Amino acid sequence: MAVKEAWGSRIGLILAMAGNAVGLGNFLRFPVKAVQNGGGEFIIPYLVCFFVMGLPLLFVEWGMGRYGGKFGDHSTPFILNNMTKKNFWKYFGVFGIFTNFGVIAYYTYIESWTLAYVFESIKGTFVGMDIQAVGNFFNEYVDIKSDGSIFNWPMKAIIFFTITLAINIYILSKGLSGGIEKAAKIAMPLLLVFGLFLAIRGLTLGKTGECVGCDSNVALAFIWEPSLNGLWNFKTWLEAAGQVFFTLSVGMGTIQCYASYIRSKDDIALNAVSAGFMNEFVEIVLGASIVIPIAVGYLGMDWVMENAGFMMAFKTMPFLFDNWGATLGIAAGVMWFGLLFFAGVTSSLAMGTPWMGFMEHEFDWSRKKAAFVFGCIVFVLAIPPIVLFQQGVFDEYDYWSGTVSLVVFALAEVIIFGWVFGIDKAWHEVTHGADIKIPIIFKFFIKWVTPLFISVVFIGALIKPNGDQWADAWNSFSSGNGWIFDNGSILNQIFRFNTPSSELKWFVEGSPTSLFFVDMSRLLLTLTFLFVCYLVFIASKKRKNKIPVEHK
Ligand code: ALA
Repeated sequence: MAVKEAWGSRIGLILAMAGNAVGLGNFLRFPVKAVQNGGGEFIIPYLVCFFVMGLPLLFVEWGMGRYGGKFGDHSTPFILNNMTKKNFWKYFGVFGIFTNFGVIAYYTYIESWTLAYVFESIKGTFVGMDIQAVGNFFNEYVDIKSDGSIFNWPMKAIIFFTITLAINIYILSKGLSGGIEKAAKIAMPLLLVFGLFLAIRGLTLGKTGECVGCDSNVALAFIWEPSLNGLWNFKTWLEAAGQVFFTLSVGMGTIQCYASYIRSKDDIALNAVSAGFMNEFVEIVLGASIVIPIAVGYLGMDWVMENAGFMMAFKTMPFLFDNWGATLGIAAGVMWFGLLFFAGVTSSLAMGTPWMGFMEHEFDWSRKKAAFVFGCIVFVLAIPPIVLFQQGVFDEYDYWSGTVSLVVFALAEVIIFGWVFGIDKAWHEVTHGADIKIPIIFKFFIKWVTPLFISVVFIGALIKPNGDQWADAWNSFSSGNGWIFDNGSILNQIFRFNTPSSELKWFVEGSPTSLFFVDMSRLLLTLTFLFVCYLVFIASKKRKNKIPVEHK
């Protein structure tokens, strides 16, 4: 029988929520996005996105979650169903479970690299290695091949992935207060200590003398000196909005699930603000002060501009730490990969809870059963990105589940909350029991600005023109030559306008192409979505005989 879940303490809840948000995105994605989008030019659009979109979405999701919890709803399909009293919306809520399957499948894989790298650091594997050797070590670890083979068989990585997944499943099976909350209480303080140590190192590294311009201050000035130029660049806005979505874990269904276990009279406003700002501190202050400044300190800004990518964490950092001598280098490696592991695990645990909440409450599954089955599904879903790493499958998962789905779901939920549920009831839900006074402007944001903002982001992502040349695409369109889509635009991803029909082949000379694997991974994600729809359908049939009871 399902057990009644609850948070053990307020601090535990805030740390778990902050842990949900603070993840690999803070340390790996944010600094890279900042560098790729002009450093200081990125910061202002990023902060605007945080205030007009991120923070309102936090209020919306915490509000929806606590509201759902009153009726025993712990996952988005039935939270939305209950808020709208319309059956149709619960199928939108499927995103709040599906997205987590898609994301956790590749996210736990990266998380497992960090665990493996903690062990490699302790073993002293990277001591004395040059940058090339560290890069090669990574390529061997994930079995990157240059001989044109289709499959990657990284046995060691698969073992570490299995261990990482098992750790997640074990903690999930212990429930909210006995598992997730305990994990967050250990992981978050350690993460902060490790992060502060490395950030202080990054902030004080200064000139290393390794090259002309090898100076961490150059990186800090680049990232921190705000520039208004980014305001006029739509690409910067899209990237900033995407980062805010990913880092806050909004549009995923995890916040609603966590919040659904709060008592109906408890505060959500201060909790949401605390967890949100903790995430921003870790992202903007710590995240921006480690990888990039340290890399610029030893390799220079030009190298970083050319090579900035999230693999730097694995392919470059161990080499950079080794500059600090064997002992400190090993300690820094353990702290860096340890903090990434803690950041990752507190986020992946959150991705497991919508499924747990759904199966425990709709199907009366025990925690152990729900956690075990979750682990099995995630394992199966993770195989394609692992063994077809070089065929674009990993990116495909990230694109559809980690990017597009978040925006689609966030747009739907903010419209439902502010318009279908109704802004006055919505505002009451957010402010009821609040320990702080939320400025009334957020009511206006939730109703108007946030939905409009997300709509613009979504439309922008849908029709993004090649090279972000909006004027060129418009000229081409108005002169009858059609819109010039960017390869990454959603419409091009679906209809493949930019790929010549001669290349649209699943097989060439009897061998499957990357396109085949990409399409198969889309099919797998679609089937996962339909599988969750089916479970929701069964659950709603089961519910027909039950009358919702308001829990106090
Ligand atoms: N919010 C999580 C992260 O930043 C998913 O990694």
